[in-house]
Amino acid sequence: MWTPPEKIRHALPVLRVPTRDEAHASRLFAPLTVGRLSLTERTWVPAMVPWRATEEGETTEAVCAWYERFARGEPGALVVEATGIRDVPSGPLLRASHDRYLAGLAEIPRRVRAASGGRTRLFVQLIDFLRIRRRPQPERYLREHLVLRDEHAARWAEVLGEAPPADLREALVQLDAQHPERVDRVLDAREREALRMGARERVTDVERAEIRDLPRTLPALFAEAAARAETAGFDGVELHYAHAYTMASFLSARNDRRDGYGASREGRVRLAREVFAAVRARVGRAFVVGCRLLCDEVIDGGSTVDDAAWFATELARDGVDFVSLSTGGKFEDAKQPAIGSAAYPDTGRSGYECMPTTFSDARGPFARNVAKMAQVRAAIRAAGLETPTVVAGGIYDFAQAEAILARGEGDVIAAARQSLADPDWFRKLRTGHGDAIRRCRFTNYCEALDQRHLAVTCQRWDREGLDDPTVARTPDGRRRLTAPPWDEPR
Ligand SMILES: Cc1cc2nc3c(=O)[nH]c(=O)nc-3n(C[C@H](O)[C@H](O)[C@H](O)COP(=O)(O)O)c2cc1C
Ligand code: SF4
Repeated sequence: MWTPPEKIRHALPVLRVPTRDEAHASRLFAPLTVGRLSLTERTWVPAMVPWRATEEGETTEAVCAWYERFARGEPGALVVEATGIRDVPSGPLLRASHDRYLAGLAEIPRRVRAASGGRTRLFVQLIDFLRIRRRPQPERYLREHLVLRDEHAARWAEVLGEAPPADLREALVQLDAQHPERVDRVLDAREREALRMGARERVTDVERAEIRDLPRTLPALFAEAAARAETAGFDGVELHYAHAYTMASFLSARNDRRDGYGASREGRVRLAREVFAAVRARVGRAFVVGCRLLCDEVIDGGSTVDDAAWFATELARDGVDFVSLSTGGKFEDAKQPAIGSAAYPDTGRSGYECMPTTFSDARGPFARNVAKMAQVRAAIRAAGLETPTVVAGGIYDFAQAEAILARGEGDVIAAARQSLADPDWFRKLRTGHGDAIRRCRFTNYCEALDQRHLAVTCQRWDREGLDDPTVARTPDGRRRLTAPPWDEPR
């Protein structure tokens, strides 16, 4: 994982835990209206892919047990992982792309409601993503996939100062073994990317019909998936307009589509608005429809916080029920993957801003991007709108969360990794047992598993109680799949 060059090690701050009375009087544990629903408290577990679905995207017992475990901590809201809206193979990622997924999905709300005593509202994050290929063996790419054109021969002559050989393809294979940098100069930027990183589709590839037509196909796909979520018993959906995926790419300042769905801010937000309108029209009024947006893409030429504030205000004006904010997590600055693996969006600087670790710069990892998120909220309020915003990134503590709410930087506090380290942490704070919280170390062991598409667990608990035969484990038997139980002392 990328770390800031300063590599300053930040210690976990020493905490003073609130008493039960302080917690009860706090903003964090006060209710909040979201759309037509009420959250019992302003605590939120944001989407986290745990890699527990089947290869066909079906819900499993391990998926249900994962969400049930978070629900025991009784957060105000719990967002189920990014769930695919297209009925295409996408590995062990949940899908809501067909009615055959309904029965499995319906099990999650049942389990969450029972485990939280109905305190936790349950949303599911709906995602669309474009194709990305694994980084190929260079010889294989050059021999089988590169489409040779006259330009290659001309660039060969330019780069090597000699006439191109009759068998240019084989010559490129030979040259790559000795001088890969010269091969890079013979290829164009997309070919270089396909060879060194793995080919990646973009929303700007409008020469391809299926990409050109995304504005016509996506609204209905999102709407049908949302309708399934409603039928399955979820309280709402979070439209995934963040990170490295299709909808965020439409919002990006790098989107220069000239068909009315790019270039200007109005063009870039148009599909996000149309998707929201299609979803809103397809589900009941009480069903919550929110979205997740980036407060900053943190890539060269990408959208900034000013864009985010403008997009969030437009979407709030259209009536989104909440705006959940995240940062970065893009493909554009991802590290080169190993041959045979695909690039992963959280491996570069923008990924660091999404999930900052304790190896940081002077700013440190804790609530690192909340000031930008506050700017987004301020813009929504300045437009006279009350849409709640959810803030995330390095939040681990009651006083810190309470200060964010008191300063009006956000309306709801989301914690992903702290909730993974201790799914009961919100409940422990609320009930005066804050000293029993298992704290996140913010070193991203969990995220390293995520990047390898391995079952996500936490290093603080995944070796505990492995001699207990009733504990569900990873296939190799080495890690438990959910955090050990916590019984509230009487
Ligand atoms: C294992 C893991 C999986 C994640 N999966 C998703 C996801 O499916 N959708 C999403 O929007 N964010 C995802 N995130 C990002 C988190 O929701 C959150 O924004 C980020 O971890 C920063 O919050 P934190 O500092 O509280 O962990 C994931 C994070 C982790 C650690
Ligand atoms: S694995 Fe590390 S970073 Fe992830 S939740 Fe656990 S303690 Fe936090």
